[in-house]
Amino acid sequence: MKNDIYILAIETSCDETSMAIVKNGKEVVGMSVLTQMDTHANFGGVVPEIASRMHTENITMVLEDTLQKAKMSVSDVDAIAVTSFPGLLGSLLVGVECAKVLSMVYQKPLISVNHTMGHIFANQLENDMTYPALALIVSGGHTDLVKMNSAYDIEVLGSTIDDSIGEVFDKVARVLGLSYPGGPNIEKLAREGENTYSLPKAMNDQSYQFSFSGLKSAVINLVHNEEQRGNSIRKADLACSFQTAAVDELVRKVKIALENTGIQEFILAGGVSANQYLRGQMEQLMADYHVHFHVPAFKYCTDNAAMIGAAAYPLYLKKQFAGYDLNAQSSFDIKAYMSILKNL
Ligand code: KG4
Ligand code: ZN
Repeated sequence: MKNDIYILAIETSCDETSMAIVKNGKEVVGMSVLTQMDTHANFGGVVPEIASRMHTENITMVLEDTLQKAKMSVSDVDAIAVTSFPGLLGSLLVGVECAKVLSMVYQKPLISVNHTMGHIFANQLENDMTYPALALIVSGGHTDLVKMNSAYDIEVLGSTIDDSIGEVFDKVARVLGLSYPGGPNIEKLAREGENTYSLPKAMNDQSYQFSFSGLKSAVINLVHNEEQRGNSIRKADLACSFQTAAVDELVRKVKIALENTGIQEFILAGGVSANQYLRGQMEQLMADYHVHFHVPAFKYCTDNAAMIGAAAYPLYLKKQFAGYDLNAQSSFDIKAYMSILKNL
């Protein structure tokens, strides 16, 4: 009797074309990630039309590479999973159409996966997640603090009311003249600087909401004002001051949630979780509160298909399969989505 479940997962929501075969939602049997970062860096950010065209050009190659690494064929897998929302519409469509074709040709069930859930489930690839858990999702599209009662019973405690944390890292990087993607470049530069610029507190309150547009504007205005006065900017110090202010706010809000809920498990997820300073500060907080800290391995922090395979597994077990009318969706309301999941 065959007990192991193999899921072929596809991720094309932004500028990475990725596929992976994941066994039992945990073990990555083979993964391929083709990033378009260098192309988009020429334009200072992701150009949606170019992204979808490159996904189309590369997806077959990524499939072949994944199958080769896993030493499997599509007929060996139990289901096809795909990120169908949220993300860039044209990019998502390439993955969704590919998944539908594979599902139809090989007669495998189709699973629609939410990209944000994928980031959370990246942690499942490392350790078993236990519940209840608090999760902080920090990416280019999201800054959400959620309470997980079980894998798919999730309550949103708070979100950003304006820019996401990743977006702000990218915008601040641009004003400092750093290339795309901004987050890793800010981190690198910040290591050479000190926290000497005084920047406003992001949101000085006790709620679970986040706001980063004030901090972003403060950095942009500071740079412009100094330029107008003909003064030079200590870029490394400003990168360090910005990173410290942004991370301090994330840590402060998580601390409030830990104190209010008494939860003993904490999950960090999303592209920005690759940031060493953030990881270090969160690690310290969790040590102080004796909370178990989960963070994905670096390769599973930014967009990849392994995390989509991990997130698809509980849906497979619940037989939550999608029809061939599955469509890509660029945006989504996290609260509405979580309440649907709760009723599965
Ligand atoms: O999760 P992700 O790969 O894509 C989305 O789903 O949005 O996140 C991308 C974001 C970008 O804003 C990027 O600048 C940021 O994650 N990021 C970082 C780091 N690595 C990626 N931000 C800060 N420090 C990093 N090391
Ligand atoms: Zn992502």
